[in-house]
Amino acid sequence: MIFRRILPGEALAYREIRLRALQDSPGAFLARYEDAILRTPESWEAQAEQGAEGSDRAIFLAIGEGAEPPVGLAALYRDAEPPGSTTGELIQVWVTPEQRGKGVAEGLIAHLLDWARGQGFIVVRAEVTPENGRALRFYQRGGFTVEPPIEPGGDLPIWKEL
Ligand SMILES: CC(C)(COP(=O)(O)OP(=O)(O)OC[C@H]1O[C@@H](n2cnc3c(N)ncnc32)[C@H](O)[C@@H]1OP(=O)(O)O)[C@@H](O)C(=O)NCCC(=O)NCCS
Repeated sequence: MIFRRILPGEALAYREIRLRALQDSPGAFLARYEDAILRTPESWEAQAEQGAEGSDRAIFLAIGEGAEPPVGLAALYRDAEPPGSTTGELIQVWVTPEQRGKGVAEGLIAHLLDWARGQGFIVVRAEVTPENGRALRFYQRGGFTVEPPIEPGGDLPIWKEL
């Protein structure tokens, strides 16, 4: 398994895995498949490019043997405020059902956080729905702290210092 940052020309592969993720796990993400499927090629290209270049955003992929499409996706976006923030949000984390429980997600996040350390990120946070026990367990095992929801029944904030 290879874990690496997306390349600027990989918008189609990015679109494919992101749509698969939204279809497979509608409850896990804020974005909806029904909206994502309507996006223009240019919008996917712009997002892939932003994830491929610079020090504020990265999209990482897990890629298996051969010419198969990527099997894992994760992104980190630096907070827009304050400028030069050392905090970022981990989003879009998804691994194909076939590759779960095999350390793929762990490898993917480890590579993304290595990149983040190199770019001066100090804290990474995310939000997980309370029903997503598997993701919560996964993040806790990876050293994330899980906080109580801000509103009753709301998403659980999680964070980790790098
Ligand atoms: C979240 C995700 C990336 C984690 O990857 P993974 O390969 O499934 O993670 P792992 O199998 O390494 O770890 C999951 C842990 O949850 C446990 N687990 C499995 N099913 C569970 C469940 N229903 N409830 C609680 N824990 C569960 C596993 O046993 C494992 O814990 P362990 O290491 O103590 O045994 C993957 O499950 C996924 O893509 N889920 C759908 C999308 C998603 O929820 N993304 C996160 C959005 S915040």
